[in-house]
Order: sequence, then C-alpha cells, then structure tokens
Amino acid sequence: MKKLFLLTSIALLLSSCVEKKGEAVKANLDIVPVPQTMIVNSIEDGFILNDNTVIVYNDEANQFNAEFLQSYLKNIFKKDLKTTLKSESESASINLNIIDASKCEEMGLANDKESYLLSVSIDNINIYALDAAGIFYGIQTLIQMMPNDIYSVDANEVAEVDIPCMNINDNPRFKYRGLMLDCSRTFFDVDFIKHLLNGLAHYKINNFHWHLADDQGWRIEIKHYPKLTELGAWRGADELLMPAYGSGNERYGGFYTQEEIKDIVQYAADRNINIIPEIDLPGHSKAVAVTYPETVCDIESKHLSVQGESNNVWCVGREENYEMLENIIAEMTTLFPSKIYHIGADEVNMNSWRDCDVCQNLMREKDMKELVELQNYFVRRVEKILAKHGKTMAGWDEILDGGELLPTSIPYVWQNSERGIKSVKAGQPTVMQVSQYMYFDMKQSPDERGLKWAAIIPLDSVYSFDPIGHFELTDAEKKLVLGPQGGLWTECGIVDGYAHYQLFPKVLVLSEIGWSAYENRDLNHFKKRLFDSHIEKLYHMDFDFRVAPPTVKYEDGKLIANKDYDQLVIRYTDDKSTPTTESKEYTDAITTDMPENYRFATFYKERSSIARGAQNIDLYHYQKPKTTITSNVPMEQDINVLVDYDMNTYCNTARPVESGDYFLYTFEEPIDCKKILVGTGHYGLAIVGLPNARLEYSYDGENFIEGDDFVYDYFDGYYAECHPEKAVKAVKIVVTGIGECEYAILQDLRIE
Ligand code: ACM
Ligand code: ZN
Repeated sequence: MKKLFLLTSIALLLSSCVEKKGEAVKANLDIVPVPQTMIVNSIEDGFILNDNTVIVYNDEANQFNAEFLQSYLKNIFKKDLKTTLKSESESASINLNIIDASKCEEMGLANDKESYLLSVSIDNINIYALDAAGIFYGIQTLIQMMPNDIYSVDANEVAEVDIPCMNINDNPRFKYRGLMLDCSRTFFDVDFIKHLLNGLAHYKINNFHWHLADDQGWRIEIKHYPKLTELGAWRGADELLMPAYGSGNERYGGFYTQEEIKDIVQYAADRNINIIPEIDLPGHSKAVAVTYPETVCDIESKHLSVQGESNNVWCVGREENYEMLENIIAEMTTLFPSKIYHIGADEVNMNSWRDCDVCQNLMREKDMKELVELQNYFVRRVEKILAKHGKTMAGWDEILDGGELLPTSIPYVWQNSERGIKSVKAGQPTVMQVSQYMYFDMKQSPDERGLKWAAIIPLDSVYSFDPIGHFELTDAEKKLVLGPQGGLWTECGIVDGYAHYQLFPKVLVLSEIGWSAYENRDLNHFKKRLFDSHIEKLYHMDFDFRVAPPTVKYEDGKLIANKDYDQLVIRYTDDKSTPTTESKEYTDAITTDMPENYRFATFYKERSSIARGAQNIDLYHYQKPKTTITSNVPMEQDINVLVDYDMNTYCNTARPVESGDYFLYTFEEPIDCKKILVGTGHYGLAIVGLPNARLEYSYDGENFIEGDDFVYDYFDGYYAECHPEKAVKAVKIVVTGIGECEYAILQDLRIE
C-alpha cells in the first residue's frame, strides 16, 4: 500500500515537472453568426483555459453538453478535461448554468429558448441559459474562440487559450433556422448526414428539412410497404426507376432504415436540431408510382412534370390512397418527434386528374370547378391525418392554392417573394426559402456548375436576403415569418464533393440571416470573419467548401487575375490545362498575345477552385458551319436550335429515347477541324442527357465510321468527341440504350 502511494506521488511529481506542450494562444473573436452583443471588458486580463480547467454543469440535462465541449477541448489539450455535476467549489472552471426564467431580467438575458449569456472573468467562464439548447449555443460560441483546428483530432496541441474578460449576450432573431437537403435525387449516407448536422449545429441552425421521397427514390423504410424501399429506392437500367441525373446504368440509390433514422434524429436532437421529414406528395411521386402503381390515376398519361416525369401524381379520388398515407404517416410518427411534417405539394401536373374518371367523379361530387381544388382537397386530407397524430402540416407554397388551410399549416415559400406575401396575408406561419436567394443548387457564377432558372446566386446575394425586409409586411404579418431556410436540391449532386461545394460557406450566411439582429449584419464584416477564420475552420471540419475562383480579364495585352481574399493563392498554366498545386503562382499581370491558352485557379492549401480563362474573351473560337439536323425522334421544340451554335438554346425529345434512335448533323460543306465535341443534357449541369449512345462520323455523308461511346463528364454531361483525319461531312448520335428520363436534351456541336 505504502509502495503504491509512493509510486503515485512520484508519478504526480514527474507529471507536474514535465513542461507543457504547445503554445499559449489568444482566443479568436470572429464569431459566426455575429452575436447580439459582445463586450470585451479587458484584453489584458482574461481566463486561462488549459487542461486543468474543470467543466461543471448544474443540471443533468447538460451532461451531453459538458461532454460535447470536453470532446472538442481534448483535440487541442490532448487530454479529457474533468467534467462534474453540481460541484460548488471548483476553481478555474467552465460553468454551465441552467437558470430560472425569473432570473432573466436581472441577468439581462433574453427570456427566449436558445438564448445564452457567456461571461468570462479571470476566475471562470460562465454560460447561463434557460435550457440545454442555450447552453449548447454558448458552448458553440466558446468553441469558435479556440484555435481553428480544434475540430480535428489532429489539431496542434496548445498549452492554454487566453480568453479576454468579456460578456456575450446572445439570442436568435428567428426561432426557425433551417436547411433542406434533397436525399432522393442524390442519396447521402448516415455519416454524411451526421457530419452535416454537426456543422449546422455549430452555426446555430436548428431545423434540418430532410427531403426523403421524390421521383428518383423513396428513402425511408416503411415496414407496411416494403416495396417502397426494396424497389423504389433504386434506379438504373434494370430497375423500375430509370437512370437519372448522371447515375448511369448501374443500380444507384439507398435508403435509411428505421434504426438509422432514430439514430440520426437523436444525434440531431442532442445538437438542438429538429428533423422535419418530407415525403413529396401528390406529385414528385414516381418512386411510389412504380412500386404501387394503383396509387396513381389509371390513365395513359403523357402529362409530364417540370422534371419530365409522367404518371407521378397520386390519384386524389382513390379513397384507399388516404389509408396508405395514414399507414405511412403513422409509422413515420414513431421515428420523427418533429411537430412539423412536410408534404411537398409542389409542381403537380394536375392534368392527369382531368383525364381520370375517379378524380372527375370526386370533382362533381364536391362541386369543384378547378383542378387546383382537387389539390387542396388532397392537401387537406393529409393535413387531417397529420392533425390526428398531433402534427402540423407544412408544404411548398402551392399549398396556398385552391382553397383554405388550417391556420397552423406552414407554407414554405420558394417560387418568389410575392408568394411570401400571399402566405402571410393569408395568415399562415411561413418559412422563407425564396429560390432567388436561398436555393443553394443554383450556379454561383456563370461558368460554375449548377442550375440557373431561379438566378445565378453568388454569396453576396444570399447575404442580402432578409426574411422580412424583402417583403412589404405589417407588424402582424412580420410575426408570421418563422424564419429563413436554405435548400439544396441534388439533381446535379451525385458528383463527389458537390453538395459541400454548394453548401459551404453559404450555410454560414444562412446562419447569420437566421440568428443575428438585422442591425448587426454587415457583409464586409461577415466576409472578414469568414476569410480570416471560418474558411480555415471549415477546412478542419472537413467540409469540402467552394474555393472562390479568381476573376480573370484580358485588357491592353495583359491578363489580370484577382482573388476574393488574401488567404488564397492564384496559380496558372499557359497550355489550357487545369492548374494544380505545382503550377506557377500568379503574382502580377501577364503580358501575352495568346490569352486563350491561359487557365487560372485559386488554391486554399491543397484545395482548388474551378479553372477559368479570361472571362471577357472568346476562349474557344468554335467553328460555326451551316448545318442541318434530322432525327427520327419527335422533338418538343424546333430542332434547328441545335444548329444555331448558341449553347443557351435547348431542344428536347418529345418521348423517351430508345435504342436505334439517331440525331444526324450534316454540314453544308465538309469542314476541316481538329475535334468535334458532341454533348447531351443541360450544358454545365450534366443532367437529362444520353447515357447510352455512340458517336459516328462520315467524310461523305453516307458511309459512317463508328466513334466512341458517350461518357459522363460532370460539366459537359454525356458526351463523345471525334478527331477526324480529313474534312467531315456529317456526325451522328446513335442511341444504344435507354435515356435518363422521359425525354433527352441535345446540344449544339462544339467544333474546333
Ligand atoms: C421546388 O423547388 N419545387 C419546391
Ligand atoms: Zn385520379
């Protein structure tokens, strides 16, 4: 016994003699979202946070919070700090204090859920809040003050972090701050979702709107209807659902088991995130329609949705459909404690209902004049099922059409600002996910990937959005605005890293819009915090964020490149190749009379932006010979737009393509060229092209040489090239298998 005591004493003595590893570092005060008030009392004096600091919590509800903080601090101190419940006498401690609402006034704390007071003195750090959510947010703010690599187990060791004496008094502007992720078009696994939730929580976003069912996949296990996931979660050449959005002929998809969902919901709840499930009804339901075909109207429908799907709309008149929805929703309620359930209701092509006897009978019976009244009837039936389970219905802003709603139902505004005004004027609580600002699947500049039907949306534009200020509203109407939401649809998202690219750093903008006081918002100040600190934080959080590409122009014989922020390095090549970390660094304007040959990219550490050439010149000089085009396939638009050499004009087929279909481009005169690139699908988006096709070319217009099969490129879509040896008279696309959806988009030739 004595010996053991002696040994322990020596060990203690030794450990206190060993010099502390790492440096002393100063706290980082670049907080996102910017707090309501932050008063630094002294930069001289402060609290020294080190591995002797104890984390004390006064309420069992905070055990998770204490351990959460402990796990981050371990990354920099390489040791678990002690955590303890209700110890009164710890010196040098971080105290997590849940307080009674009666204390709010005296402490100057907003009497709101989620608000917190973070007070730093020489002796202690105190976080006060009314609930565990407020304590959690105080902790997130504290974590942001730590070194930027604290998020990684590989963080550099530090001896201490010196935090100035200060008070942060913080509370959210909006009680709803959401992000929507489409997991139907692209399937993201459990680890991806948890990693994302952790990032959202760090930036005080408290709702995750999980888009779980759409035309291209049903992703939630429902035991009552196993085919929904056995068959409806998969697409491919041999599946019931066709290939789509670049997933190719292979079986693509996946779903979340009920156990996985419970695990994710708990993971989110621990981090103060409510998960709102969405199953998109009555449109966007191809995955249901192919597995349980009786759910859709019993007609031969040629009515396509905006995305080109036919027969993807639930039959409104079929009574058994409501039983099925009752069964599905009943199972969902065992998984999702959320009060809000989202039922989609967007972009329904209602014409099927016009052709369906069952729907028409219902219209007559209920004396309905317009098809949209059927939509309202459907929505209200689902609203009623949800109400029976104590749930509030949410839907896209189309739920406002065709009739009334329960006053508690929540439209999510997406189409435009006017729909937001309509929603609050109808007295509905409203979430603002206005597409022109909050759709993170839109392009961020013209030559980046992404859609652009809503707008091209750079980060600055998102920052300019205000869920209230963008609308002319009375005070009563303003109160109906629950808050902002960002959304990522993933039609073009199956490319690795694309989701993070579109989400980050825009999620930080969303965070500030949702949390910070309007008066405290300042784009330049936001960018300074972002570039000085949070880009590096995101790097260590392992989010594959967008590196802002350089702006490049050619002027007076010189190429001039600029970057968004100092921490980036611009590199370039002069042979049209994509710059790498090994490429030459750009430091000054480049004098050249061959500007087309240069490509520039910015780098943050090893991560690169897209590459681009000068944006104000024609980089490619494509040839534009007079050409005629013919096909055996009926087209939706004038087929001649495919030979106008304008990549912005599209033409799509009026039916699904099949093996043997062709598209023949014939030049008036044979043309000499180095290369012809034949792309399909949306240019710059790589969707709705021809996964199964071959390129052929001919020198005489009669005898064709077999060229390459089409391959996938994340920007050009499914494409093939030929490199003719002499003047070419014609090129032909020969379809060899099924397409991506019920139509295919063709492009103009790019002839070099
Ligand atoms: C939507 O973008 N269809 C909600
Ligand atoms: Zn019907």
